Amino acid sequence: MEAPFSIAPLERIEDFLACERLQQAVWQLEAEQMPKATATMLIASRRYGGMVLGAFDPGGRLIGFLFALPGTVPSDNPAAAGPHWQLCSRIMGVHPDWQGRGVGHRLKLAQREWALAHGYELVTWTYDPLEAANGTLNLGKLGAICRCYLRDFYGPMADGLNVGLPSDRFEVAWWVGREWVRRRVEEGWRPPRLEDLQASGVRVVNPARVRPDGWPEPGPVRPPEGEAVLVEIPAHIQAVKRADPGLALAWRLNVREACEAAFAAGYTACDVVKATVEGIPRVYYLLQILGP
Ligand SMILES: CC(C)(COP(=O)(O)OP(=O)(O)OC[C@H]1O[C@@H](n2cnc3c(N)ncnc32)[C@H](O)[C@@H]1OP(=O)(O)O)[C@@H](O)C(=O)NCCC(=O)NCCS
Repeated sequence: MEAPFSIAPLERIEDFLACERLQQAVWQLEAEQMPKATATMLIASRRYGGMVLGAFDPGGRLIGFLFALPGTVPSDNPAAAGPHWQLCSRIMGVHPDWQGRGVGHRLKLAQREWALAHGYELVTWTYDPLEAANGTLNLGKLGAICRCYLRDFYGPMADGLNVGLPSDRFEVAWWVGREWVRRRVEEGWRPPRLEDLQASGVRVVNPARVRPDGWPEPGPVRPPEGEAVLVEIPAHIQAVKRADPGLALAWRLNVREACEAAFAAGYTACDVVKATVEGIPRVYYLLQILGP
């Protein structure tokens, strides 16, 4: 059951300042590191068409936030083609004590309502495709899709979650008014099963091998074939980074190669598959050739 919390737009100066402190906890920032979004930037963005939503615990403490800006649609993202204007969702963070308790999901659902009420059909954002939890939320529970891979989008990053790897990103498209998104968010996500996909001939393009020390390492990337393919990612990239930074980099480069090849061949990442294989939790993106 979800813990009690409420969602509301940030209004008061002290909430925007609390948002700076929240970011220190979420991204493990050192005292001298700037928050990703400063209070002044959020205050100004909100006045000029941006959206800044907060999640509050029962005592009124800010425990999560989601920030988005109006913007134009990038021309090199085929999954986002069509409209000129879109809502660019920029940053979402939930306090570590509250992660995994439904706050991020509820913030995104509130963002969808906000976007529809303000006339947007498309919301896009970027996230690290190696972060399995974010992938599950974005492509699984929310029904966003991706056909745009951005290499080292922000350059080197120093915060605790991003340090040490090129900052590659998936740029996802969330068609907030379309039927498949409505079904996904209103009726719930039914994750595809690995056995069912494999029984119908869907292959993993980079199947991992489990090393003697128990960590899966990515296999060589094969060309994508058929109506659908799977791309494996690590189940817990932050744990891989702590245990073996070289292995984390190998995953980054391997998933980059696999996704770039699949997107270039016309596949769209549209779901996430979780399974236990050889006794180890595994995560895959499902990529399909979608109709027009
Ligand atoms: C990403 C983030 C915002 C998600 O918020 P959250 O409140 O933790 O997410 P939720 O509890 O709403 O989870 C939604 C879904 O994501 C997936 N998920 C969340 N945490 C997970 C975890 N630790 N492991 C696996 N899946 C997870 C699950 O599918 C979950 O739904 P379920 O619990 O019904 O299975 C939050 O974890 C966070 O702040 N992370 C660090 C900062 C970041 O990466 N921000 C996003 C890019 S700007």
